[in-house]
Amino acid sequence: MKVEVFKTKEEANAAAAKVFIDAVNANPNIILGLATGGTPEGLYAVLADANKAGKVSFKTVRSWNLDEYVGLPKEHPETYRNFMNRKLFDNIDIDKANTHVLNGLATDKEGECAAYEASLKAAGGVDIQLLGIGSDGHIAFNEPGSPFDSRTREVFLEQQTIDDNARFFDGDKSKVPTSALSMGIATILDAKKIVLLAYGANKAQAVRDAVKGTPDVKCPASALQSHPDVTFYCDEAAASLLG
Ligand code: F6R
Repeated sequence: MKVEVFKTKEEANAAAAKVFIDAVNANPNIILGLATGGTPEGLYAVLADANKAGKVSFKTVRSWNLDEYVGLPKEHPETYRNFMNRKLFDNIDIDKANTHVLNGLATDKEGECAAYEASLKAAGGVDIQLLGIGSDGHIAFNEPGSPFDSRTREVFLEQQTIDDNARFFDGDKSKVPTSALSMGIATILDAKKIVLLAYGANKAQAVRDAVKGTPDVKCPASALQSHPDVTFYCDEAAASLLG
């Protein structure tokens, strides 16, 4: 597990974006694993700028997103599908038919999750997985207690995650969905390479537990210690407890 610390998140975004741009240029048919939330927004803007400047093309790239809220109406701006369209897919030359986001309105949730796993496996698996980290150490929506061998399934959000995400729902905790469909920890660990971004002081304890703690379900991100190719890109605040 490598940790790179940058003065600002802008510098970290530039370094992480270079990893993605170089990888896409080396393999235009690459499969990307993508994340939502506040953290990747800056990196997505850098990728969109690079695409517009002709430095990279996503025409033949395929993507699978980590997770999706359960029950939000299709047109809700905070579905992760709509987030991805707005923050990345509408701003680059990717073919949206090649972008995959779990369907949070599926009536057969188990079937939806199994089909998602199967489609990813059939495509050959994720080459580079982008991750954020929750202030409680979650990756995707694998909250503390999630088994390290978990696969894509419905998961229930911890109160801390609901509180953290209320900022996307007019600050109203009651508007945040209480469950999501999420790749499991084992699904994430199947990726060939993992890039995790962590910004801000509220991520410092989770980063410390993930990097320095004994791997334990109390900090889902600590499962990443067993993966051969993980790099954390942190700003100084998020890295402040690493010592
Ligand atoms: C989002 C996801 C989550 C977020 C995490 C951090 O697809 O899987 O694990 O990465 O909740 O969220 P932000 O970036 O909003 O702090």
